[in-house]
Amino acid sequence: MISAFHLVRIGRAAFIFAREGVFSTIDPALIPPAARPLVRIVRLIERPSIGAADTRLSAALTRLGPSYVKLGQFLATRPDVVGAAAAHDLERLQDQMPPFPQQEAEAAVAASFGKPVSAVFASFGPPVAAASIAQVHHAEVVNAGGRRAVAVKLLRPGIERRFYADLRAFDYVARHAEDFSAEARRLRLVEVVDTLRRTVAIEMDFRLEAAALSEMAENTKDDPDFRVPAVDWDRTTKEVLTLEWIEATPLSDRARLLAKGFDLRQLARALMQTFLRHALRDGFFHADMHPGNLFVDDHGRLIAVDFGIMGRLGVKERLFLAEILHGFITRDYRRTAEVHFEAGYVPAHHSVENFAQAIRAIGEPIHNRTAEDISMARLLTLLFEVTGLFDMRTRPELLLLQKTMVVVEGVARSLDPKLDIWSAAEPVVREWMTRHLGPAGKLEGAALGAAEIGRFVGNAPGLLTRGVRVLDQLDEITRGGLVLSPETIADIDKREGRRSRWSTIALWVIAALLLWIVILLLR
Ligand SMILES: Nc1ncnc2c1ncn2[C@@H]1O[C@H](COP(=O)(O)OP(=O)(O)O)[C@@H](O)[C@H]1O
Ligand SMILES: [Mg+2]
Repeated sequence: MISAFHLVRIGRAAFIFAREGVFSTIDPALIPPAARPLVRIVRLIERPSIGAADTRLSAALTRLGPSYVKLGQFLATRPDVVGAAAAHDLERLQDQMPPFPQQEAEAAVAASFGKPVSAVFASFGPPVAAASIAQVHHAEVVNAGGRRAVAVKLLRPGIERRFYADLRAFDYVARHAEDFSAEARRLRLVEVVDTLRRTVAIEMDFRLEAAALSEMAENTKDDPDFRVPAVDWDRTTKEVLTLEWIEATPLSDRARLLAKGFDLRQLARALMQTFLRHALRDGFFHADMHPGNLFVDDHGRLIAVDFGIMGRLGVKERLFLAEILHGFITRDYRRTAEVHFEAGYVPAHHSVENFAQAIRAIGEPIHNRTAEDISMARLLTLLFEVTGLFDMRTRPELLLLQKTMVVVEGVARSLDPKLDIWSAAEPVVREWMTRHLGPAGKLEGAALGAAEIGRFVGNAPGLLTRGVRVLDQLDEITRGGLVLSPETIADIDKREGRRSRWSTIALWVIAALLLWIVILLLR
């Protein structure tokens, strides 16, 4: 059951959606005729000066506050659920908020440690950054080694309560959408809300962030070009994270990087390689690599902060990734295809030749382009589309990797627009392949790769299926052989466009609730 409290929350969301003109971005063709008058009514409260259609959703979410911004940022990583256009709009969401007052910050520290701030920190300065979940203060501690500067990340007071209240409303909307519509069930909206709940619960427990920092510090302790700030465990609780203060230049501050004489091309390369090394070698990567979280110290080492969202790749996924990248780099599409079949990634009823052909269709154009036009993230996007056609489901962690790769590539390209992603990636991929698949020479034999993958994968269906919708399309599209013509691809796009509009359904439910509230008020 939902309480009046939740109804008010949903009503407020609906009102702001209506005010910001979100409802009018719905494709009229998707609205059942009987419901059209409802939309006309809802549109009456639209603000006279609403923004462009493609920014309205992000504008509305920003007005609705932190939980909605988080929901939006989360959905931006799920174009399979919201559709490409909405995902693009949602990528705009900025996570910046005014700081909460110093007094509240100090009270939060005192409450968390059960003693006054001055008993924990020798000094406790003003905030240096503030976002929806937390803000960071500069502080100092005194210990045997003397006085040291630290960064103190504080959970925003009351954020957890507020977030869980909003989540209950999201859950209500998702459940009702699933009751109403098969499309909503297919997109598993309730599961989407569940995943959001788990993701944010992790982000709101700073002991977990501290553990992620510590795990990555261990993984990278011998890497000369990367490090993370050390955790001060004695001054870390669920709500307070105390880290070594990092004195370094943000990667976003190009002018300062140049003034300090850094070689931006080298930094771009190092960033790309660092990310791939974490993903491939360690199977543990930072999944929020925007430039605000990346710094360069005076020794030219990259430093990352903000370990709230992390990605993990199991051995199978790493192997898959390495094989794929290696296949594309060496243009050996046939072997890559065979290896996937023999290992059971792709069901045997498909043809190896067709699979190799599909991979070639993605790989060859890339080799014809100049280095600066090549995008590994784009390659993975296309690849997941194609592998989906062969009954191969993409695991969520691979999607997170691909999404992060888009960001990493963006940052690297902003440092060096001419960066050759392939040549940067090649040494990392080669090193990993050599270590895990035996001497490089043996790699040439197709059988070995297959045997190795087989050993990892066993008989279990390794990669989860990508989504019911692809299965639905599969029969139609692959009947009579797969032809990767532009028409086929356009056709897939069209189907996805029609089907991945969960926002439409959710908006429907919200609009209906809004109307209901209005009726209740008018009675
Ligand atoms: N150890 C640190 N040393 C110096 N500044 C830091 C440190 N950790 C965070 N900051 C600053 O605070 C900002 C916000 O911290 P971050 O962990 O990214 O929080 P959020 O999750 O709110 O983005 C960073 O962008 C950086 O400028
Ligand atoms: Mg950050």
